[in-house]
Amino acid sequence: MFHRLVRTMDLYDGLRMPVRVGRDELLLIHEDGQTWLVQRRCPHADFPLDRCTVSGSQLRCPGHGMEFSLRTGQCLTASYRLEQYRIDYDGPWLGVEA
Ligand code: FES
Repeated sequence: MFHRLVRTMDLYDGLRMPVRVGRDELLLIHEDGQTWLVQRRCPHADFPLDRCTVSGSQLRCPGHGMEFSLRTGQCLTASYRLEQYRIDYDGPWLGVEA
């Protein structure tokens, strides 16, 4: 079932939108024209990523500064992995299959 999250026309650079899909807390990120959907909390120490910074395809956690690849989810300095979710589209809506 398609779960609507946001209309594509409402995306803007700098967007950090916490969303709940079923039991999962996710974070929708839009930066430099790219959209990402990841787990809301950092896999290192559970810090919310709502105020993360994104540069290119790297996310920096505001907790302890660890960086993650948004392409692979892999932490660049440790073995932590940021869970990523596939984004789907339905007309003007962006969302996920859940
Ligand atoms: S909680 Fe994210 S780097 Fe520590």
